Amino acid sequence: MMYYEIIPSLQDTISRQQQFRGWPRAKKKALIEQNFHKLQLLSQCQNMSHSKYKDFDSAQSLSSSTTQANKRNPSTPLRIGILGGGQLGRMLLQAAANYVVETYVLENDDHCPAAHLCHHFTRGDIKDFETVYQFGKELDAVTIEIEAVNVEALEKLEMEGVKIYPKPSAIKVIKNKIVQKEFYQSNSIPSPAFIITKNINDLKENISFLPAVHKLAQGGYDGRGVQVLKNNDDIKKAFDAPAVLEKMVNIKQEIAVIVAMDDNKGTAVYPATETIFDPVLNLLDYQVSPAELPTSVLKEAEHIALQVVKSFDSPGLFAVEMFIDNNDKVWVNETAPRVHNSGHHTIEANYCSQYDMLLRVMLNYPLGNTASILPSSIVNILGENGYSGAAKYEGLNEVLGIKNTFVHLYGKTQTKPGRKMGHVTVMSDDRNELIEKVNNIKKNLKVIS
Ligand SMILES: Nc1ncnc2c1ncn2[C@@H]1O[C@H](COP(=O)(O)OP(=O)(O)OP(=O)(O)O)[C@@H](O)[C@H]1O
Ligand SMILES: [Mg+2]
Repeated sequence: MMYYEIIPSLQDTISRQQQFRGWPRAKKKALIEQNFHKLQLLSQCQNMSHSKYKDFDSAQSLSSSTTQANKRNPSTPLRIGILGGGQLGRMLLQAAANYVVETYVLENDDHCPAAHLCHHFTRGDIKDFETVYQFGKELDAVTIEIEAVNVEALEKLEMEGVKIYPKPSAIKVIKNKIVQKEFYQSNSIPSPAFIITKNINDLKENISFLPAVHKLAQGGYDGRGVQVLKNNDDIKKAFDAPAVLEKMVNIKQEIAVIVAMDDNKGTAVYPATETIFDPVLNLLDYQVSPAELPTSVLKEAEHIALQVVKSFDSPGLFAVEMFIDNNDKVWVNETAPRVHNSGHHTIEANYCSQYDMLLRVMLNYPLGNTASILPSSIVNILGENGYSGAAKYEGLNEVLGIKNTFVHLYGKTQTKPGRKMGHVTVMSDDRNELIEKVNNIKKNLKVIS
């Protein structure tokens, strides 16, 4: 069968032709199948002009998400790849089991939390260009569960027609905290004032900027790569590598707002979640959702979260972490371009979970209902201090006896102090009762070895 596309410019035609040359036969065949409706139309319209064809094409791309979904045969499994096989990938796969999809996971460890829940597991480095490219090139869509991935490979895949959620351009900005802060600045998104320090000497020259928070440009996660610098005595904690030095905010409350954006730029916003951090481990301790804050503050936070996601101009799911300061001003801390730990509760406590939502986006289905069913709280199950080795869970019986409690263990066989081993979601329409249950769970549930 002959396949052809009408491309208005010669330059684009040449690069499209070059792309096709590098494609395997299976991928070319899939392209023809995806465009079968156009080929049928072409054969019916012998004298069809270029402009008419263009109108048909743009009418298709501007149409509603339902029409978009109809382009694909819904009985043909969408081949979805996930870069990273941790707990976020695991929960995404749990939601994926409800759809016509074939799932692929790339991760270095074949005992990772997501390895046994996908159809195809590939052991490999998500940071390596060739590994990511080879993994993605036969897939329809690729998403991430961590930002530390090879973006160049994703860019190449995107050029070759694989849908990437979020766009590599958004991952590129977010991956580097310097670039991320500059992005907020240039898009007029309120984020704390900052300076860039290339090394420790740069930092020493800017001591007058303290108190501030020093954040490694690349490679930090879960609070590693973040140091609070109050005064000169803290210089020893600072990073001797490219970093952001961000003004210290007097935080009244930390929140996160999750936003989904579909291929047609339609959006869905989840109610804000209050995140409460463990100051010692610098790690999310527990969270409460929906956040109880003045309506004006919540509206502002929602507005800013949408502004962030619209500025990234990418379909996918994003968690915008924000600070509310003592004057109720909202500041963006950072954005995660993926499903996020501040959205675990949405599995039971919201009509459409963040995981289900991302799948709807990738499958081009209508966005789901983000509303909360009941107020909820999440308690992280962390490896107990002083224990390393094969994980044993104490107190599961007691915790599961608490009304409206849901336990999620991530399938990690080995524990170590502070390691995220699972989480518990608890729901109640009485906030005091919720906090009481949280404390009960924290007291009873332990991961030891
Ligand atoms: N400018 C600031 N002022 C006050 N506290 C801050 C500031 N920046 C960060 N923090 C504190 O440090 C925590 C971790 O910072 P940040 O979210 O930037 O790091 P991270 O390593 O990417 O975290 P994670 O991966 O856990 O989201 C924040 O949640 C907040 O409690
Ligand atoms: Mg953070």
